[in-house]
Formats: sequence, structure tokens, C-alpha cells
Amino acid sequence: MIACSDRLRYVHSDIRGPLYQEALRMEAEGTPVLKLNTGNPARFGFALPASVRGALIAHVDEAVPYCDVKGMKAAREEICAYHIEKGLQGVSPDDVFIGNGVSEVASMLMEALIGTGDEILLPSPCYSLWSNNAYLCEGVPVFYRCDPANHWNPDLEDMERKITPKTKAILVINPNNPTGVLYGRDTLLAIAELARKHGLVLLADEIYDRLVMDDLVHESLAALAPDLPCITFNGLSKSHIICGFRCGWMIFSDPNGELQAVKDGVMRLAAMRLCGNALTQLVIPAALKDSASTRAMMVPGGRLYEQREATIRGLDAIDGASYEKNDAAFYLFPALDANRFRFESAGDFCMKFLHECQVLMIPGTGFDWQEDLRFRIVMLPEPAQLKEAMEKLGEFLQHHRW
Ligand SMILES: Cc1ncc(COP(=O)(O)O)c(C=O)c1O
Repeated sequence: MIACSDRLRYVHSDIRGPLYQEALRMEAEGTPVLKLNTGNPARFGFALPASVRGALIAHVDEAVPYCDVKGMKAAREEICAYHIEKGLQGVSPDDVFIGNGVSEVASMLMEALIGTGDEILLPSPCYSLWSNNAYLCEGVPVFYRCDPANHWNPDLEDMERKITPKTKAILVINPNNPTGVLYGRDTLLAIAELARKHGLVLLADEIYDRLVMDDLVHESLAALAPDLPCITFNGLSKSHIICGFRCGWMIFSDPNGELQAVKDGVMRLAAMRLCGNALTQLVIPAALKDSASTRAMMVPGGRLYEQREATIRGLDAIDGASYEKNDAAFYLFPALDANRFRFESAGDFCMKFLHECQVLMIPGTGFDWQEDLRFRIVMLPEPAQLKEAMEKLGEFLQHHRW
């Protein structure tokens, strides 16, 4: 047997892990499963916006050659304008790297920033892209606690306690996956202050910034920390329903040039893969001008809004389940009262729910959350289907009470 590289020792993506494999096995045997494991809207009938389709068709010939290593100029210009509009200062199209999803540019940044033994502060719960990249770089993910009792805001004392001489960066995922909450200005300013005090780089994963509900407004971390080195991540997978296109970017805001070496490193990594997928970049200018199609999903009568309402109405009827209502995206991260149900772990709960009710959800442990018995619901099916799934959950839990 040829050994797998040791660097993969801790890498795991539970969203597509053993529970998912079990769901696929069940489906192969003829049992349909409602798969609420991935945030992939087009799987649930969300349509490609006309703006995106039009731009792709109109410009397809421009995507035939390799494009610029950092990404097509027109796309980088539009991205830069988008972030300036959100308050980023001193940035130019030259500070933008476009890649095959936030996933790819996040990997490039982490490889360029984090070396063996370097520590990076990540949220718990966390979207596993970031922890996995820390492991791959032989860095050390150090988790700061987000507090369900404080609308899942980061516990700033915990964050500061965990800063050591080896800490290099703080990652903020806002709006958050898996909790779906939006952090307000005070929280972001306090995080920036910690970064300022301890000389840390800020990483802001803001892929859900356009998917905000309840008349709330997303504020960019980099805009609130104009004096600090910050890398902001964003993309079109969710806001424009094009997960499969693989379209994401990062933008460096770096007023004092502290990130120059890291940026040069990213450039070398980007050059290794020649360029990102050029087809997806064609749609960026049109998509960023089309905020209306995203907005329509987030307001009363819109799908994401109504799906959240259907889910929480269903959860409200379940004794022993609690949740913090999400403000954004399409995730909820509810808890079950562990003293009232006969589950050994969150994983045990999810496996039994999958087997008995044919609904796949991912346990909190898949998001580096160990504290209590939690799971993530992806609220992408139509309201009626989510209502039914919550009714199934209620009945299932009746059978598993002590
Ligand atoms: C918080 C967060 N960041 C990044 C990504 C990756 O997105 P993509 O690679 O499709 O741009 C996701 C996908 O679910 C996410 O939830």
C-alpha cells in the first residue's frame, strides 16, 4: 500500500463525508433521500439569473484563451468597484485575484500565509474549508468560540485569550456558515481592534454578504479596519446560483504594504495553475450589476425568506429543539436537549434520522463544534418540503425521547 501524504492526516469534509456516502448508498438501492447537506441552490430549482445567462452567451468567445493569471481585467475592475462601494479604501483591480470559487483562492492565500506551526484563529463552529486548509499548510487552527446565547457572535475574550506569539491571522466568516447570523458593526470593530493590538492579518469570508434578510445591512470588515492588512473573500456561487461555475475572488486591502510578500506568493501559486476558469469570469460584471435577483430571494415572498420561515415554524413545534434565527444565507444551526433524547452524539442523531426518515443533515461536529448536540439545516427546498421535513423530525424525536 502506498501511503497518503501525511499532510492530509486531519483533512476531512463531513458535508460530503460518511453520512453523505450513506445517503448515496441508500439512493443507489432505490430509497430517495432529501439531501440537506450542501448549500447548492440550483439543486433545489433555483434558476440561473437571466443576467448571468445573457453575459455568458454574449461573451463566450472571449473565454477561449487562457486569461490573465489574476483574472480578466473587466471582471477585476467590476469586483474592485463593488468593494469600493462597500467602503474598502485604497484598493485597485491589481489587488484582486479571481479563482475557481472562494475555495480555490482561500487555498492559495492559506498556502502563501500559513507555514508549519503558524496559528490561525478560526471560528467554532467553522466552515471546514478553512480548517482543512490550515491542516494542509501544517498550520494550527485555533478555534475561538461563537456564542449561541449571544446570537452566535464571537466571544472576544476567548479570541484574545487564544492569541499567542505564533498567531498570524483571524478569520471572520460573516454572514456565517453554519449559523447563518450576521455580525454587527460593534463586533467587527472589536475584532479589528484585537488584530490591531496584536499585529494580526484579518481574513474576511463574506461570500454571503448579499444574502441578508430582515432589512439588515452587511458591513465589510476591511472597510471598518482601513489601517489593517485584510483579505476579503467573495464569490457568486450562492448569490447568483452558480455553484457549479466555480467563481470566487479575494481582494487585498493593505494600506501599509505589509502583505506584499504574501501577495507575491499568491501570484506564484496563481501562475502555477495558469488562470482561473475564464468562462465563469465572463459573468462577473453583469452579475455584480444585478443585485435585484439576489434581493428578490431575501424579502417576504422570496424563496429564501419563506423557506426560513417554514423551517422555524416547524422547529417551534418541536419540544426539546432550540435555535438562533438566522439573519442571512440559508443555514440554521439548531440544538437538541441532550438530556431528553437518546442519542450518543450529534453524528448518531444524524445517522438515525437519515436511516429512519431519509433526510440528510450534517452534525455540528462536522463544523468543529463539540459543545452540544447540534446539526445544520440547509434551508434550500421549497417551504412545503421543509415543513414536511420538520414534521418528520418532530415525529422522529418523539420516538427517541428518554
Ligand atoms: C463560508 C463559505 N466560504 C466559502 C465557500 C466556498 O464557496 P465557493 O468555493 O463555491 O466560492 C462556502 C460554500 O459553501 C461557504 O459557505
